[in-house]
Amino acid sequence: MSLDVVILAAGKGTRMFSALPKVLHPLAGRALLRHVVDTARALTSGRIVVVYGHGGRQVPDAFTGDDIVFVLQEPQLGTGHAVQQALPHLTAGRTLVLYGDVPLTRVSTLKALTSHAGDLAFITAMVDRPAGYGRVVRGGDGRVQRIVEERDASDAEKALLEINSGIVCADTAKLKGWLTDLRNDNAQGEYYLTDVIARAVADDVEVGTVYPSDNWEILGVNSKQQLAQLERIYQLGIADELMARGVTLADPARIDVRGKLTCGQDVMIDVGCIFEGEVSLDDGASIGAHCVVKDTHVAAGARILPFSHIDGAQIGREARVGPYARVRPGSVLAARTHVGNFVETKNAQLGEGSKANHLAYIGDAQIGRDVNIGAGTITCNYDGANKHFTIIEDEAFIGSDTQLVAPVTVGKGATIGAGTTVTRDAPAGELTVSRAKQTTIKGWKRPAKKK
Ligand code: UD1
Ligand code: CA
Repeated sequence: MSLDVVILAAGKGTRMFSALPKVLHPLAGRALLRHVVDTARALTSGRIVVVYGHGGRQVPDAFTGDDIVFVLQEPQLGTGHAVQQALPHLTAGRTLVLYGDVPLTRVSTLKALTSHAGDLAFITAMVDRPAGYGRVVRGGDGRVQRIVEERDASDAEKALLEINSGIVCADTAKLKGWLTDLRNDNAQGEYYLTDVIARAVADDVEVGTVYPSDNWEILGVNSKQQLAQLERIYQLGIADELMARGVTLADPARIDVRGKLTCGQDVMIDVGCIFEGEVSLDDGASIGAHCVVKDTHVAAGARILPFSHIDGAQIGREARVGPYARVRPGSVLAARTHVGNFVETKNAQLGEGSKANHLAYIGDAQIGRDVNIGAGTITCNYDGANKHFTIIEDEAFIGSDTQLVAPVTVGKGATIGAGTTVTRDAPAGELTVSRAKQTTIKGWKRPAKKK
């Protein structure tokens, strides 16, 4: 049967102590609500209706371009009241209610819920410490009778260990009926979505329940502590998948993937690495400790040494980058290149076997094969207004502390003497040097302090 999804996201998130609406806080680099929307989209091509309120337009504005109906709930009078706001937009036969601050529910668990045959079913869990949650009250026959909120519960009800996740799936027409006569005569003076359970039971509906595969699937985020807990659960899941496919992780508790990480065979990742956007690491690649790698392809056998920051780059086979390298967007490092400590590259191609081992800036440059770039070499690519290009042909040797004032070309096999400021093209095969001649002043004495 067709399915619409309502996502409740109007709450304040008081305990986040943040100007950012709670559902926009990131988990694994994506807003909490983004996780829930993606999950909803994996379930149905029907409508996704997000109920927002606190934080005003910030929530809808963060999702422009998405196929979502946003409904304002103002004031916020409870979860039942929130779903009421969405009712005019529901057209499918069944409706699933999710929460913008419960980001990790598995699609498979929700499929088990939505494929449930009855008119109403919800996700519950057995927990050791049920405090704070609504409790599921069952009759002697084991059937669900109602849900009681913690603040309305008797001591005996508080002792119940089956909790309500809040996630519910219902026949849309019946849900509309049950929601019309909700009352708010409870401890919080709110219209509770949970009260539809008792209403359905009164209509002789058999209310179904589904357990998640793991209890963390129904955990919500109310504080920064809980956000960090869920982040770690999520990351451990990714670490587990990587290891299951043969990736060696020095410590599965110390990796963060904020996007998509694809790995070949025999890939090694040391502690403290962060992967953002789309990163792929081919066979035998290794990433040293504390690297940040974003939107980058690392070819087979390449080694990224510790503390390197790599963004928007292609790293060739058997290349060696770092430690302490900064490889910026548009860097294309061919096979067996070396980019060493305190070397920055940007919009630069390094041909096969070329090396910049220490302390250099290579920006807007095309470097041929087997070029050696000495320490302290800088491409002066910016004149204050425009960027200019440097070309260094195959087998050139750039002495230490050279400035290449672009636009400039260094010919094939040319040698640039240390300390040279290259302002005109340097011819192939020749030594070019702009350094002043060295002189020695014989018998010169250092000034002495006056007595
Ligand atoms: C709710 C359930 C409780 C369940 C718990 C699971 C009710 C009455 N209680 O309690 O049984 O155990 O979730 O975490 O449903 N929201 C709105 N508009 C409102 C109120 C809330 O959009 O007017 C949204 C919030 O942003 C949040 C969600 O609904 O995403 C749940 O609201 P919250 O106040 O956290 O409900 P709980 O008291 O935790
Ligand atoms: Ca809550």
